[in-house]
Amino acid sequence: MKYGYFDDQTREYVITNPRTPVKWINYVGTLGFGGFVDHTGGLLLCKGDPALNRITKYIPQLPGSQFKGQTLYLRKRSSRGTQIFSPLFVPTLDEYERFECRVGLGYTQFDTEFHGIRSQISVFVPKGESILVQEISVTNLGAEAVEIDAIPLLEYTHFDALKQFMNADWVPQTMMSEAHEDGAGRKILAQFAFMNRDQRQTYFTANVAASSFETDRRVFLGDNEYGTFQRPKSLENAELSNTLALRGDNVGALMLRLGSLAPGETKRFVTLLTQQEGTRVESLARARSLFEKYRHHEAVASARTAMGKDWDAYLGRVQVNTPDASMNSMLNVHNPRQCYMTKNWSRDLSLYQLGFGGRGIGFRDSSQDVMGVMSNMPEEARELIEKLLSVMKSNGSAMHQFYASTMVANEGDAREFEDRPKFYGDDHLWIVFAVCAYLKETGNLRFLDHVLPFYEKDKHGAPREQGTVLNHLQRAVEFTKSNVGRHGLPLLGFADWNDTVNLRTGAESLFVANQYGKALLDLIELFDFRGDHAQAERYRADYEHMRGLVNEYAWDGEWYVRYFDHDGSPIGSKKNAQGQIWTNGQSWPVISGFAPRERAERALDSVNRLLNTPNGIKLSGPGYDGFDPEKGGVTTYPPGAKENGGIFLHANPWVMIAETLVGNGDRAFEYYNQINPAAKNDVIDTYECEPYVYAQNILGNEHPQFGLARNSWLSGTASWVYQVATKYILGIMPGYAGLEIDPCIPKAWDGFSVRRQFRNADYVIEVTNPEHVSKGVQKLVVDGVPVAGNVIPAFDDGKTHTVQVTLGTQADAGEQAAQ
Ligand code: GLC
Repeated sequence: MKYGYFDDQTREYVITNPRTPVKWINYVGTLGFGGFVDHTGGLLLCKGDPALNRITKYIPQLPGSQFKGQTLYLRKRSSRGTQIFSPLFVPTLDEYERFECRVGLGYTQFDTEFHGIRSQISVFVPKGESILVQEISVTNLGAEAVEIDAIPLLEYTHFDALKQFMNADWVPQTMMSEAHEDGAGRKILAQFAFMNRDQRQTYFTANVAASSFETDRRVFLGDNEYGTFQRPKSLENAELSNTLALRGDNVGALMLRLGSLAPGETKRFVTLLTQQEGTRVESLARARSLFEKYRHHEAVASARTAMGKDWDAYLGRVQVNTPDASMNSMLNVHNPRQCYMTKNWSRDLSLYQLGFGGRGIGFRDSSQDVMGVMSNMPEEARELIEKLLSVMKSNGSAMHQFYASTMVANEGDAREFEDRPKFYGDDHLWIVFAVCAYLKETGNLRFLDHVLPFYEKDKHGAPREQGTVLNHLQRAVEFTKSNVGRHGLPLLGFADWNDTVNLRTGAESLFVANQYGKALLDLIELFDFRGDHAQAERYRADYEHMRGLVNEYAWDGEWYVRYFDHDGSPIGSKKNAQGQIWTNGQSWPVISGFAPRERAERALDSVNRLLNTPNGIKLSGPGYDGFDPEKGGVTTYPPGAKENGGIFLHANPWVMIAETLVGNGDRAFEYYNQINPAAKNDVIDTYECEPYVYAQNILGNEHPQFGLARNSWLSGTASWVYQVATKYILGIMPGYAGLEIDPCIPKAWDGFSVRRQFRNADYVIEVTNPEHVSKGVQKLVVDGVPVAGNVIPAFDDGKTHTVQVTLGTQADAGEQAAQ
């Protein structure tokens, strides 16, 4: 509780101490227009592409105390003199009487008190709009009247985010600002790079009169920039200088004289920031009409309400009530919110993934992200799935990443090595899971017949080949089937999911072998459901074949090995001094069903014994101690960090799934709990990252800073933990015929309930656990009528259905009693 708390009533996390160990952020808007706001008001904003159309300059590497992208200054004059401070704490760092930053759903709201002045600031992007709205109210809490001037300030970046840092002559020569009158004393500041002058401009305004403005950073800070953002010289003058920057570092500042505030009096205003396409005349006209709309407080309020309703609809599709309060708050609000953000932002832009280079949308990443939003927005998930399918190659492999705006794809890091394969062993298989999850959620099997292109283009840029969705999936498994190595196991390619292990050509991956097994299981189930048993049979034969190889070659005695190197030697074996055992090497043979019961339990026990820590399960161990180009990126980190024996959280939920598959509900939940960020709230000085989202990695116990998290927000952990919790632990699993109910919970639980929408019907599911078991549906009653088995039919009737589930050891208690 040192820095904040969860307010479950308002679905917010409330930061009450701004000196958090690292910045904590929240997303506003979408990749179309949006970015993030940090908990001291810093802003990174972009439109369409963080690399190529960035708007504000936010440098995460600067210390927490520094101005980043934007702030607001207040200048207070009273009989006791003048105070200049930021109600956001940064960059003036004045002592606060109260600090509250509410991290909400699509908005951040500040409520602070400094020098007897209360400021409430809400920041958001209305749905579907290219405008950042900030509504600010200032209240005089003191006993005497005060004069208040408000000075909102933005700093712009060159639109090409990387160039901004690569050329300190060219960039500043191109940046320029203009100012326009907007009636009633209001000003609109325009900013653009010269080459975009006739294409697009950024506009900033307030809904109240501005008595002056500034656009030149040097003038704003004063003293040739020996003035600072903490104490800008220009704010010592009554007015700003009205300088139009013709080059240099551009800012946008407005002097808003709010006038005199009597004790208890409040004044409010709105600032608006947009970017519009067209010539200067066209884009200004567009900006003006958007400003006209959001100038009014009522319009701002109704946009906030509409956004809230959207979130209600998104979150309302699945709501849980378990005996664990922090699980409830994660599953009902924060985890699905993070899933939404990963689906939207992929790995493009966060405090850690800086959106400079050409990362774009990762095939593997997004194929997994879509599964995290499947229960809550399946059709939006499908739209992204279609994009992913259309960057698959006709041989069934996938392009590693693509740019959403152009649909141009590339092979990712594989391009850097001439002598290495250009494909990743795992990429294409993820899409099989994603499509099957979509089919099960929606029942829309017609999607399988939808025709989509493969990626290769002819000389006119048209796709050379196309095929149905089903055909794409079949080519994916075919690709793996026909690209195998010396043991008959799938080739690693440039890498598999552990993408920092880059072995020489010829290496084989057990991860891919198991992933292929799971993909075959999904297809077998699909073909059986469609009545094509002959095809299901062929896949069954492929499945059995791979199962045989995995068990023949990869069992190491206590666990499964993870790779065979190009020369056939094992990696992830007791024979190795380092990298002896790998988490994914154990969870996935259980998920694929390849591991016989005894091996499954033994492998999972080995994970528990050798890789588990109180902060989560390590990805492998022991860590490699020294750079080894034969292994690749994994050895660039010290032991315990990231993929080199660190707690790489994305892989933890796969172990949880495996534990539920062997019926170990206590352990699955222990693993769930130990990485629940909400549970870190009390050890946050060690953990450091936001307690309301999952991070990508936590330093492992080989590292002196064991327990320290990094790379929060944009991680596949969000999707998988959400899936594990809802589908495997609470056990509400969409299936072709209906909702399959198969919880695997801690024995101590008396039960739980879930409310879930599924194919146009509402299900209120009550699970009771009188015998305190982990698993086993003993009785299922739907709308008062007992149902055999554990599948609730898909009613599709727009109605609400009640479902009572009783867990127990006996298949049917009623029958037992009758005997
Ligand atoms: C990162 C990458 C992901 C990769 C993982 C493990 O999360 O985004 O593609 O699988 O690291 O190396």
